[in-house]
Amino acid sequence: MPDTLLAAHLTDIHYPVPSCFQLRDLMSKRITGAVNLLVSSRRSFRPHLLKSLLSHLRDIGVSHLMITGDLVNLAYPEEYLRVRTHFEESGFEPHQVSVVPGNHDAYLPDAIEHEIFWENLGPFAWAAGPQDYPVVRTVGPIEIIGLSTALPTALGMAYGELGEGQLQRLEAILKKKSGRTRVILIHHAPCPGAESWHDGLVDGAHLRRLLWKHGVDLILHGHEHRDVERRIDGPGGSQIPVIGTGCAILDDPRPALRARARLFRFGETGLERSWVIVHDPASGHWKSPSGVFIPDSPAGV
Ligand SMILES: [Fe+2]
Ligand SMILES: [Fe+2]
Repeated sequence: MPDTLLAAHLTDIHYPVPSCFQLRDLMSKRITGAVNLLVSSRRSFRPHLLKSLLSHLRDIGVSHLMITGDLVNLAYPEEYLRVRTHFEESGFEPHQVSVVPGNHDAYLPDAIEHEIFWENLGPFAWAAGPQDYPVVRTVGPIEIIGLSTALPTALGMAYGELGEGQLQRLEAILKKKSGRTRVILIHHAPCPGAESWHDGLVDGAHLRRLLWKHGVDLILHGHEHRDVERRIDGPGGSQIPVIGTGCAILDDPRPALRARARLFRFGETGLERSWVIVHDPASGHWKSPSGVFIPDSPAGV
């Protein structure tokens, strides 16, 4: 097995396809998503940055993408087909992309009923439908556990839920020690107080109990649209790093929110280093701002 891995965390792509919006959406929750798309996303989330980012990640030797949801805005097939085309054209193979859905990937019940996320991402979806989670994949020295918190919610709500069945299956997976560095991908952060009641993970306390009991090495999440580093309790007094990354293709004048990805170098002994790359609109390049390197130890994350 390869003993090192350079992987990238991307999240909340919110790929904009304004032409998807249909008149019948005026009567549905998609109207709020469409307003955001037309008023904000069209101006700020830039498709060309996805092409640029994927190309850069290939150039610097990233061999695996870890993507934590909200790939699109309204959960239309056309949106996913655009994202899928970017993956295909970038040269990343389906086995090099691990993606879990976010709340925007389950925007309305029909997105889940028709399995639009899974159907249209094809082999890049990593699962056949919402019933398949958790999904587990071995990638070099790490084991990735993908969770789904995606479910349709009422207007103004953006919370997520794992559900009893998925949590039971997760505990069975965690009980089997793999010997590899374990990384959870999840859209909503499993941290107390991370989000308001209408925007958080409703069964986060249940998940934290499982992780306190069985542990993992790293949790990556999205949903918050900003870089964030927290910890939750693990077994034996340990602390599990919980890392969120800002939006992947957001064109924003504020440097802290600008398009980005977070890189992780894993070795035989676990996570060795993590750093953020940010798009520089002046040069068009992806750069590592000074001071974002994290000490070479999982405990230092
Ligand atoms: Fe998002
Ligand atoms: Fe989200």
